[in-house]
Amino acid sequence: MQTATHDSTTAANGWIACLTYKSVATASPGAGDLQSLVTKARARNRRLGITGMLAFENGCFFQTLEGPPAQLDLLWSSIKQDTRHSHIDILSEHVVTSRLFSEWDLLIDERFLDVPAARSPTPPAVAEHIARIVALALDGDDIRLNALIAGFADEGWTGDAVVSLLIEPAARALGDVWMEDACSAIELTIALSMLQLAGHAVRYAPASEMIRKSRYTIMLATAPGESHMLGTSLLADQFTDAGWKVEMAFPESEQALLNQLGAQQPDAMDIGLSDALPRQHALIDLRSAIAHSRLAALGRPTILSVGGRLFADAAASAASVGADYARKGIAGSAIPIAELVRQNRQRQP
Ligand SMILES: Cc1cc2nc3c(=O)[nH]c(=O)nc-3n(C[C@H](O)[C@H](O)[C@H](O)COP(=O)(O)O)c2cc1C
Repeated sequence: MQTATHDSTTAANGWIACLTYKSVATASPGAGDLQSLVTKARARNRRLGITGMLAFENGCFFQTLEGPPAQLDLLWSSIKQDTRHSHIDILSEHVVTSRLFSEWDLLIDERFLDVPAARSPTPPAVAEHIARIVALALDGDDIRLNALIAGFADEGWTGDAVVSLLIEPAARALGDVWMEDACSAIELTIALSMLQLAGHAVRYAPASEMIRKSRYTIMLATAPGESHMLGTSLLADQFTDAGWKVEMAFPESEQALLNQLGAQQPDAMDIGLSDALPRQHALIDLRSAIAHSRLAALGRPTILSVGGRLFADAAASAASVGADYARKGIAGSAIPIAELVRQNRQRQP
């Protein structure tokens, strides 16, 4: 198959061809096989100026590739003949003016490789607390869970520490449990809701004067269709405490998000992906939602921030989805968002 045809003039003008397909693996690849495929692919992609992402799940590959049309054609003629997969189904093929994966020669879900994502080690005591929180949340034992979280505050932990050292890591650990098939989607959702409720009981460090006096408006939205709202809900506490006017949105679709944004015209909007699951596949839709949000908010330019596990793990950045800011977590996020709104307001006539 040919990628969308372009002559050398359009390529020179910076057009980027973008191709997404899925295919079936002919044999079940081990982590080592995937590692070797990805290492070689990254080196070649870098040479060709190709960026993109590759996922492997349930015996199927899912890949997005983007780059100068001639180079993408060349690479595609290799990939489509590769005997490691078959039943190639092209899902989309188009030409764009900017890349989605500008920072990745090939983004891969690190779970499929031998090399774990680099993370700073968690001290053993904290790791034990997280394991206990996960166990209680999965048991649905909200009484003990709330008592445990309240106990940390009594010991002198700040709300910011409870959220960033315990609640957010516990949400990610719950996501891992689900990905290992050790709990059901409903158990995961209930456990996350319990963490969310426990999180509302903690108090964040008081916001600075600059934030409290600003009285800006913010719309806190889950990404369209996102079922996990832990981060969005806890973020609401911080902005409400700081005196901001807070609107919440849990849109089913991009259009529903745009409608609410158009009606509210807030100073800032945060779009949250799951804090539990990586959601790599959601990046394409998130980028679209952000691009269209900028149009919907033309009357009053809005600062757009994003958050969720994908951004906390530092796998994705704000630039990759066209946002102004990517939150690494919940605690303290109000400060940089407020500063960006302030700068934005100053730029307006
Ligand atoms: C699912 C899948 C995705 C692949 N993605 C890439 C890729 O992004 N870049 C790359 O150079 N090779 C990729 N490869 C490997 C290529 O098919 C091919 O083996 C490699 O580019 C060497 O090509 P050549 O044998 O024509 O020299 C992929 C293979 C498979 C099965």
